[in-house]
Amino acid sequence: MKLVFGISDKCIEFDSDKWVKIFKKYKRICAETKKSFDEYIESVKKRDPAATSAAQILLLYSGVHALAGHRIASALYKKKKFFAARLVSQFTRSVTGVEIHPAATIGKCLFIDHGMGVVIGETAEIGDYCTIYQGATLGGTGKDVGKRHPTLGNNVMVGAGAKVLGPFKVGDNAKIAAGAVVLCEVPEGATAVGIPAKPVNRQKAEQGGEIGGQLDQIHIPDPISQALAQLSEKLEALEKRINKEL
Ligand SMILES: CC(C)(COP(=O)(O)OP(=O)(O)OC[C@H]1O[C@@H](n2cnc3c(N)ncnc32)[C@H](O)[C@@H]1OP(=O)(O)O)[C@@H](O)C(=O)NCCC(=O)NCCS
Repeated sequence: MKLVFGISDKCIEFDSDKWVKIFKKYKRICAETKKSFDEYIESVKKRDPAATSAAQILLLYSGVHALAGHRIASALYKKKKFFAARLVSQFTRSVTGVEIHPAATIGKCLFIDHGMGVVIGETAEIGDYCTIYQGATLGGTGKDVGKRHPTLGNNVMVGAGAKVLGPFKVGDNAKIAAGAVVLCEVPEGATAVGIPAKPVNRQKAEQGGEIGGQLDQIHIPDPISQALAQLSEKLEALEKRINKEL
């Protein structure tokens, strides 16, 4: 519906349909923002038992501030405003201690706990619901060009001080132990520990779920001792049978 107002010699048009559309769009954006905000707060509460309220998470968590800064920097970067994007990311770094390159791709509900010392490189990609603790680096080895940084799947945990270096994939639900240095692919659900990182989940390693296709040399089953154990069992059974028959 269009209403036209006339004031002296001027005409003002009021298109009510246009304003209804704008209002509906605004309402939808508000509802979507509230939904993702609630989801984020709940996901942080699940991962940090110390988080007691939404206000605390929003106002006091430096990792949350770093992420907000990254959203702005990333939007500027996508609009090819590279200098402004770096400016925002460096300002965020000086406030939070977390350095995220504006070109890094970050999924939903990333939780950077404690913040300080986290570095996320330019070509790093992070899936949904990942958790990164203080001092962790998603970096390059200095040997690659182009894609130089790791790709984390969904629900990956990177422990305090861990370094994940290189353009490989860390599978969904994988855990990187505190202090580990990971230099090659981590399969889905595996836990990588140590320097250089190796899997600690024996079952997964035996089933071929080892990191970077390397065999876990410590936990491989010994076929000779297994055969000897079977032989001695058979011998014992035979001895018992002979003793019974005599
Ligand atoms: C690795 C981790 C995720 C546990 O994963 P898990 O799959 O449950 O592994 P387990 O606890 O069963 O440990 C398996 C083996 O790895 C060893 N291990 C665990 N964490 C380790 C670490 N950070 N560095 C070296 N070895 C480690 C354990 O001693 C154990 O060794 P064993 O098999 O010889 O006994 C956990 O120890 C960790 O490092 N979490 C990081 C959390 C963090 O950074 N918190 C900071 C909060 S401020």
